[in-house]
Amino acid sequence: GHVLVLAGGLSYEREVSLRSGRRVSEALRAVGIPVETRDTDASLVPSVLADPPDAVFVTLHGGAGEDGAIRSVLELLSVPYVGADPDACRVAFDKPTAKAVVRSFGLRTPESVTLPKETFHDLGASAVLDRIVERLGLPLFVKPSRGGSALGASMVRTAQELPSAMVGCFAYGDTALIERYIKGVEISVSVIDLGEGPVALPPVEIVPDAGVYDYASRYTAGHTEFFAPARLSPEVAEACAEMAVTAHTALGLRDVSRTDLIVDEAGLPYFLEVNVAPGMTETSLLPMAVEAAGDDLGTLCQALLERAAA
Ligand code: DAL
Ligand code: MG
Repeated sequence: GHVLVLAGGLSYEREVSLRSGRRVSEALRAVGIPVETRDTDASLVPSVLADPPDAVFVTLHGGAGEDGAIRSVLELLSVPYVGADPDACRVAFDKPTAKAVVRSFGLRTPESVTLPKETFHDLGASAVLDRIVERLGLPLFVKPSRGGSALGASMVRTAQELPSAMVGCFAYGDTALIERYIKGVEISVSVIDLGEGPVALPPVEIVPDAGVYDYASRYTAGHTEFFAPARLSPEVAEACAEMAVTAHTALGLRDVSRTDLIVDEAGLPYFLEVNVAPGMTETSLLPMAVEAAGDDLGTLCQALLERAAA
């Protein structure tokens, strides 16, 4: 048998995904697992039918990778895969929906407005934006509702900056999430479930040199400083871990997820989003957390695949 690592795809995060796929494949080969790595297109279906893998590791980010679509295809093909099922992915990948779900479970998340492109144009951009600034204040953080890797995301410090932030956002998606900006420390908590319930890995703290954790600071080595484990008090670290585990459970996720959050200056964590196919590149957060826990990425991926196949 062999396992299949799916990467690439057609989302804006294609390049990131190819890097994630390469890293996971190398880590699995290093522990002796026979791996096939595939860029993801329509030829996936006949190739899986001709030579079914024991299980699939999805490292597709954004779009079809995280919205559940590819997992529906895998279900149709009756191939086991690591991670959440299509329905859970659909809910988790849509940031406003995920925020609403975790809020109903008592988690703190920045106040926000969800704005479809049509509403923005139909109601008149300036009237809408004035109302949003009035309601949420400044600064704001604008991002596509369904996206990743900070593509189309930007911080808005003055009302004048908002229109161009909206244009940048709508370039990557049809709906914008406009959040009150929480000043604080960016933290990421990976959650793994190997059959004994979801467990948080050590929190990772993100300190981008440029001040903002944008695409370049995510994927260029040396542009961001990471602390793994994060420099948090034990109480705050525990609150972050609890938030990530609660989000994982509340959203009905499986096997693996990564919750991104902000700890404000009073030490209160705010949920930002959850990733159902977390980045696995050389500069990505989950592999750093695995290392900080003293674990090996290949061994972990192997265990996740074996559990999926069982
Ligand atoms: N969306 C990227 C891959 C991440 O969350 O790591
Ligand atoms: Mg994300």
